[in-house]
Amino acid sequence: MRRATIRALAILIFLAFRVATSVDEGTKQSMIQFMDKVSPGSDQGWSLSTDPCADQWKGVECESQSVKRIVLEELNLSGTLDASPLCRVQSLAVLSLKGNNVAGGIPKEIANCKHLTHLYLGGNRFSGQLPDALSRLNNLKRLDVSDNNFSGPLPNLARISGMITFFAQNNNFTGELPQFDFANLEHFNVSDNNFTGQIPDGGGRFQENSFLGNLGLCGSPLPNSCPAPQPAKKKQKDVSLDKIFIYLGYVILGLIVVLFLVYKIARRSKKKEDGFDGGKNRRSDTSSSKANGALSEPKTSENRSEYSITSVESGMTTSSLVVLSDAPALRDLKFEDLLRAPAEQLGRGKHGSLYKVVLSNGLALAVKRIKDLGIPSEDFKGRMRKMDRAKHPHVLPPVAFYCSKQEKLLVYEYKPNGSLFNLLHGMQNAQIFDWGSRLSVAATVAEALAFMHSELREDGIAHGNLKTTNILLDKDMDPCISEYGLMVVKTQDYSQIPEIRSSAASPHDAFKDDVYGLGLILLELLTGKMVQNNGYDLAKWVHSVVREEWTGEVFDGVLISEGADEERMVRLLQVGLQCINPSPAERPSSRQAAALISSIKDEEERSVSSDS
Ligand SMILES: *[C@@H]1O[C@H](CO)[C@@H](O)[C@H](O)[C@H]1NC(C)=O
Ligand SMILES: *[C@@H]1O[C@H](CO)[C@@H](O)[C@H](O)[C@H]1NC(C)=O
Ligand SMILES: *[C@@H]1O[C@H](CO)[C@@H](O)[C@H](O)[C@H]1NC(C)=O
Ligand SMILES: *[C@@H]1O[C@H](CO)[C@@H](O)[C@H](O)[C@H]1NC(C)=O
Ligand SMILES: *[C@@H]1O[C@H](CO)[C@@H](O)[C@H](O)[C@H]1NC(C)=O
Repeated sequence: MRRATIRALAILIFLAFRVATSVDEGTKQSMIQFMDKVSPGSDQGWSLSTDPCADQWKGVECESQSVKRIVLEELNLSGTLDASPLCRVQSLAVLSLKGNNVAGGIPKEIANCKHLTHLYLGGNRFSGQLPDALSRLNNLKRLDVSDNNFSGPLPNLARISGMITFFAQNNNFTGELPQFDFANLEHFNVSDNNFTGQIPDGGGRFQENSFLGNLGLCGSPLPNSCPAPQPAKKKQKDVSLDKIFIYLGYVILGLIVVLFLVYKIARRSKKKEDGFDGGKNRRSDTSSSKANGALSEPKTSENRSEYSITSVESGMTTSSLVVLSDAPALRDLKFEDLLRAPAEQLGRGKHGSLYKVVLSNGLALAVKRIKDLGIPSEDFKGRMRKMDRAKHPHVLPPVAFYCSKQEKLLVYEYKPNGSLFNLLHGMQNAQIFDWGSRLSVAATVAEALAFMHSELREDGIAHGNLKTTNILLDKDMDPCISEYGLMVVKTQDYSQIPEIRSSAASPHDAFKDDVYGLGLILLELLTGKMVQNNGYDLAKWVHSVVREEWTGEVFDGVLISEGADEERMVRLLQVGLQCINPSPAERPSSRQAAALISSIKDEEERSVSSDS
């Protein structure tokens, strides 16, 4: 059942890419040339008179009549790897030569295998250094060079941002480890080499046995900590006579300087005393320079900590705070109260900053400061009032706002439990965020979004910036969408998503952008991976893994080990992939997405209650 679903999914995705071509002669010749070198004396049945795909050459797998995978494992191949002909097979994504007797080095021509995602060379007799060329294989996800006779330093593999597996154990590598981004790696082993130096930050994510057997390696998770940087060497005891004279010279020079300073200070304090009688000009000078360095309102400045939000520019006090909430604690909230209260910066993004402000009555508020919103103040006020009317329990309403020409401040209730982003990517919490909770968060967010969309569709107000950092968690850990309607999406923002750029001809639909954001949230919940570059990287990665039929590997390891129902996870993945369809017209509406997610959740709940 599971395989069938996955296959259906793969077919679904690849229908669009299906182009009927056959493997051309040049590619066939290249493949045979590669085989000659890697397996001297046996062509393993690869022959020019047949077709690699149609006739299913040994170890060759194709998609749409192009060679995708070459898997030649445990065949006692005893030649060498000739990358030049191999990399002429442009479509090649997977190469495995595991468990053979292949010797020699990895040639630098491997850089031409640009589409390689999986390279397994473990358990051979490869030797020499890994070429720098390897670090230019940007699409590489999994690299296994373990159990060989490689030596020398590693190239800077940290450049490959999407790498999830790196195996290099049992070789003779030396030098320091590159600055791997351990947060992205899922499997890692460099045991039994000759590495030295400090394990890069984040290595503690893996266990000791990923690093053992390297005498020179130190730092977490290994028990031996690295030596502190050497302080400057202690002075030698036998200072020679002329050195003593030099030091004596310094001491005397120092004394002169000190005496001179004392003299200066004494003179100045004398002058000051004089100034109280006649020096009016000088006094006004000092007080004006003080006002420049401090804040716009001298009266309240003594109440402000250096962390208060009043670093916002001075023109702000010209219009006042509009309070939307009728909660008694907030009814009389004044702009000045916000300015005076101690504030702590919680975050800072492209469009503004977020502060936590604690009022004198103890109430905590979140204040969002937005720059360059790009809409006139009047429109902004109108939007705020419309949004205040559309209330949903899982959408955080602004309790007050402030708006001047340059700056907008939005005041929300403060939510103590952080954002969905923190919950997913903060290290400690990953374990307790189980599949049932994630599905429920997905359903709640989708439902709240669908509600807001239907309430505000006529006004044309979409969220504009839906992402996990904007989903806050209340005291019961229920999700709450924040910052609804704050971003007036400019079309050029979206042109950063390559697929959208190409479809920019159709009129821009901000509601479908929100659906895209929802899709990314679903992928983030399922994979546990972070969204970067407008989600394009994550989307691309999910597509590539699904395409390679490594679908199981898409899901967050925590969910797999918890034993979450894989069929329902695949269905949620499908909804996510529909939502991020490059063509906005093909995406479901938020209402349709919410219905799909809710039916998956209902099914999950039925199965859990029938289990118990
Ligand atoms: C593997 O090949 C080598 C020579 O290439 C040969 O000596 C050895 O017997 C072969 N091993 C197996 C298991 O076929
Ligand atoms: C490492 O190199 C030494 C000598 O250079 C050699 O004896 C040993 O077999 C090598 N180890 C591995 C795992 O290849
Ligand atoms: C590994 O390489 C070293 C030289 O770099 C060589 O002396 C040694 O014999 C090789 N070991 C194996 C198992 O091939
Ligand atoms: C590790 O490297 C040091 C020098 O860098 C060398 O003396 C030692 O033999 C190496 N050990 C192994 C097991 O290759
Ligand atoms: C890493 O490789 C070493 C040597 O093969 C092995 O003992 C260890 O268990 C491996 N660690 C992991 C995490 O797989």
